[in-house]
Amino acid sequence: MSENAVATLESPRLAPLRAATFHHLGIQTADLGNCVSWYQDFFGCKENWSLDEFSELTTSRLPGIVRLVELRAGGTRFHLFERAGEGAQAPDPGDAQFQHVCMEVGSPAEMRAWQRHWMKLYESGLYHFTRDEPATEIVTDDDGVQSFYAFDVNGLEYEFTWIPEAA
Ligand SMILES: [Fe+2]
Repeated sequence: MSENAVATLESPRLAPLRAATFHHLGIQTADLGNCVSWYQDFFGCKENWSLDEFSELTTSRLPGIVRLVELRAGGTRFHLFERAGEGAQAPDPGDAQFQHVCMEVGSPAEMRAWQRHWMKLYESGLYHFTRDEPATEIVTDDDGVQSFYAFDVNGLEYEFTWIPEAA
């Protein structure tokens, strides 16, 4: 089986599945304008498309959905959507959810730049942050891997990491 194939319960009767690849992050917000501005200003996203009419499946999964915008930065897509009356509270860290999403950058200098960029937007007063906490310091582990953590305007946690070739 090739490196990109996935074993299934039915193997070997079914042909192996090709590994699924990541497509987008779905981000629920109580304030789409605030959220779109922050994702554009922080990640440098551009809008691909938006939607304000939804299938029955979508409205049953996400009651109150008003509008959905696809933003893109490089190879990363974000689906930001506003639901009436939902998302005004930061997620409870104890609830089941994707606990954080990690973005890799190319150098320690880029790490510092992303952390400064995050702080600059945070201190600008231009955005409402559901969770009012600054980004962490950049920490380096024993393998030389660097990380910092910061919340988006909705209280969702991002990690930024730089992984040296030796690690
Ligand atoms: Fe992580």
